[in-house]
Amino acid sequence: MTTQTVHIDLGERSYEIAIASGLLDSAAAWQGLPKAGAALIVTNDTVAPLYLAHLQHSLATHYPVIHVCSLPDGESYKTWDSLNLIFDELLGKACDRKTVLFALGGGVIGDITGFAAACYMRGVPFVQVPTTLLSQVDSSVGGKTAINHPIGKNMIGAFYQPERVVCDLATLQTLPPRELSAGLAEVIKYGPIADMAFLDWIEQHVHELLARDPQALAYAVKRSCEIKAWVVGQDERESGIRAILNFGHTFGHAIEAGLGFGVWLHGEAVGCGMVMAAHLSQRLGLVDMSFVDRLTALIAKAGLPVTGPDLGADVYLHHMRVDKKAEAGDIRFVLIDPPGKAVVRGAPDALVAEVVQACCRA
Ligand code: NAD
Ligand code: GLY
Repeated sequence: MTTQTVHIDLGERSYEIAIASGLLDSAAAWQGLPKAGAALIVTNDTVAPLYLAHLQHSLATHYPVIHVCSLPDGESYKTWDSLNLIFDELLGKACDRKTVLFALGGGVIGDITGFAAACYMRGVPFVQVPTTLLSQVDSSVGGKTAINHPIGKNMIGAFYQPERVVCDLATLQTLPPRELSAGLAEVIKYGPIADMAFLDWIEQHVHELLARDPQALAYAVKRSCEIKAWVVGQDERESGIRAILNFGHTFGHAIEAGLGFGVWLHGEAVGCGMVMAAHLSQRLGLVDMSFVDRLTALIAKAGLPVTGPDLGADVYLHHMRVDKKAEAGDIRFVLIDPPGKAVVRGAPDALVAEVVQACCRA
């Protein structure tokens, strides 16, 4: 499979996303990165046995010393303690400010490694090597890095762009089915907010995507990254249009926080959150019911929940008020107006409560 590339245009912080099967073992994928006396691969206990040796082997011709920091797996470890384990490794091995960090894993590893790179000696280069569908189509691209605080998810972080993103599609073959579906939620998201032709394509290829057909995955990852690159290129720090990438995330965040983080996967909550945001768009007269039904059917076909947990409208509203998009307690929703275009705006609490009631069950 030829390597496809997507360019992220951010002036001096521009970089390429390389997409193909087998890139972990391809010499070309690792050429031209910053030179350094050492590299540090950050990964986790699930991904390391699968892919660490491949990356170590490929980097061995580029870096004289390769250190490894393998963190415990899971969203609950996206913490200060894990961040400190990375700093312990860097300082313990006397790594200098040229040291290149490699994030080998899903979005948790990517976000935490990026934040470590932003902080260590006030900034060292890092490379994203995403191994989940969600991280290949979304989290590895665009430079949002963070750890969680007990009071809120991703609340401590920085915008810090990687040197390169290397998406080896072959790694998706070992992903648990539930994680694959969670990644599809973020793929589907790009259709309603930016490209209805892409939504048509996903509808036609959802079975191939679930069967992990390499050609279908390659197109889905590439088109998703192109759309994300187009958005991030206009608004790196989310002062405007970048917020549309959070379609489904406001309701989704309330589901994740309301149930307790980790009960539903992020992508599952986003999938169901998109259904709820589509209903809200319909009740505001921005889209018709046929669009809501179409999106709901696709999300269900992708193996994602389309009915929310019945937490009660007050709980949803409470959690949505601490969303990062909220302004002075006013909830801002990403809504569809019309299909293929997103707007960010408020909605009356009573209407939101109606949507919660219509879309949730115990
Ligand atoms: P994750 O990183 O927890 O990975 C999911 C699971 O899959 C983990 O158990 C992981 O060890 C395992 N795994 C990873 N690659 C594998 C492989 N190839 N084969 C088998 N198992 C594999 O979750 P995720 O869905 O990748 O990312 C979610 C995180 O991303 C959240 O913390 C979220 O906040 C963050 N996120 C960030 C952004 C951003 O812009 N920075 C965007 C969206 C989500
Ligand atoms: N995942 C949302 C963003 O990168 O802005």
